Amino acid sequence: MDYIIEGGHKLDGEISVYGAKNCALALLGATILTDDEVVLTNCPQIVDVENMLQLLKSIGKKVWRVGDVVGVAGALSTTNVTTPVATLIRGSILILGSVLARYGNVQLPLPGGCAIGSRPIDIHLDGLRAMGVAVNQGLTDVVCCGVPQSTTYKLRFASVGATQNLICASVFSKGKTVLKNCAIEPEIVALERLLVSMGAKISGIGCSTVTIEGVQRLHTATAKVIPDRIVTATYLSAVVCAKGELVVENCNPRHLRSFLQLISSNFPTKIYNHAIAIEVSDRAKSYGFVRTAPYPFFPTDMQSLLLSMACFARGSTCIKENLFENRLSHNVKQLNLMGAKIAHHANTAIVDGVNGLIGTQVSAMDLRGGAGLVVAGLGAQGTTIVRDVSHIQRGYINLAESLSSVGANITILNQSAN
Ligand code: EPZ
Repeated sequence: MDYIIEGGHKLDGEISVYGAKNCALALLGATILTDDEVVLTNCPQIVDVENMLQLLKSIGKKVWRVGDVVGVAGALSTTNVTTPVATLIRGSILILGSVLARYGNVQLPLPGGCAIGSRPIDIHLDGLRAMGVAVNQGLTDVVCCGVPQSTTYKLRFASVGATQNLICASVFSKGKTVLKNCAIEPEIVALERLLVSMGAKISGIGCSTVTIEGVQRLHTATAKVIPDRIVTATYLSAVVCAKGELVVENCNPRHLRSFLQLISSNFPTKIYNHAIAIEVSDRAKSYGFVRTAPYPFFPTDMQSLLLSMACFARGSTCIKENLFENRLSHNVKQLNLMGAKIAHHANTAIVDGVNGLIGTQVSAMDLRGGAGLVVAGLGAQGTTIVRDVSHIQRGYINLAESLSSVGANITILNQSAN
């Protein structure tokens, strides 16, 4: 499937953000910790989330969905995950800690997800070993055995997924588990809050040191999936590239401070509790030197959006991708095909802003990279064809339709252009 984008149409209007894929995946993983029903509201209907629900069903969970509300209940019928959907999403690894905490053993295929780097799971497994779990990682799967015991463990890097898994793994461990150098992304805070509302005893919520005191059981709870900060940034990038006036609603501006700093130093921006209004009538000056790093610093998931925005700036921007080794180079090549001036060495790109990009055929290689190409196409002269947008659909609800509702001109071509 391709997007055909006629560039040069200004955006104007209000656009709404939905629940975050990466929050939903983590909360769904935690539903395994109880047989009681856990209800998630604002749960986005996107491919990766549906695959996660499929995975939960395949191991015995009862799952229902009415619109954006999802309920998950019941015990697992097996701890041996065999469904092929587990290999399609990265989120499948997020059941590891919960299954172990509840059942003391698990067999899981190695996770899939975007081809943005080697994405090892050594921190997840090292943390579990520190909790006394026997871990065996094979070429295609991982087998773990043993009930996690309380311990003090320092993650060698603040990995989002490993933090989520290790917190879930320790909710029933007798005594106190202390996890140090935890990631503090908003999606982790949302998970910690859900666990507390299920009866877990967690202190240090949102902090890099988290203490979990084991409890005997968890119970039913309801949680709202937080607004997707990457989708919020995508809409803002779209108007930066295409120009116009946009109000992005149902978002949480506090979750994207580092991104908003760059935007608001270049364009008139009003920040409300749950909305951001932006007016773009000119090119940005430049975005300076931006390095990706764990929260609260500039997120790797917004790097390709920034790369596209930087192409339209007057000055030079330097971007260093520090998390995923394959995340920069593909879009650099694609944007240069559109007339961008990006010099690139290893994980650093130096973008010299140009007067305008020219539409051509480009291809999406991963979810966020694909979104970066779409926003570039909105600002380019002429027609941009973004191929392989199925990557984009893994993490966005109807991106083309949403942007079209505020003035973009995007046609969806179901059969790929040759
Ligand atoms: C989560 O991935 C997100 N995915 C990613 O979103 C996001 O890019 C990433 O966090 C960073 O913010 C989900 O939440 C499902 P990490 P995760 O473990 O948990 C290294 C998107 O587009 N590392 O924080 O896999 C790793 O290689 C995606 O929505 C190890 O070395 O990310 C990377 O360099 C893609 N060993 C860094 O840590 C490990 O055991 C951060 O990875 C784990 C990670």
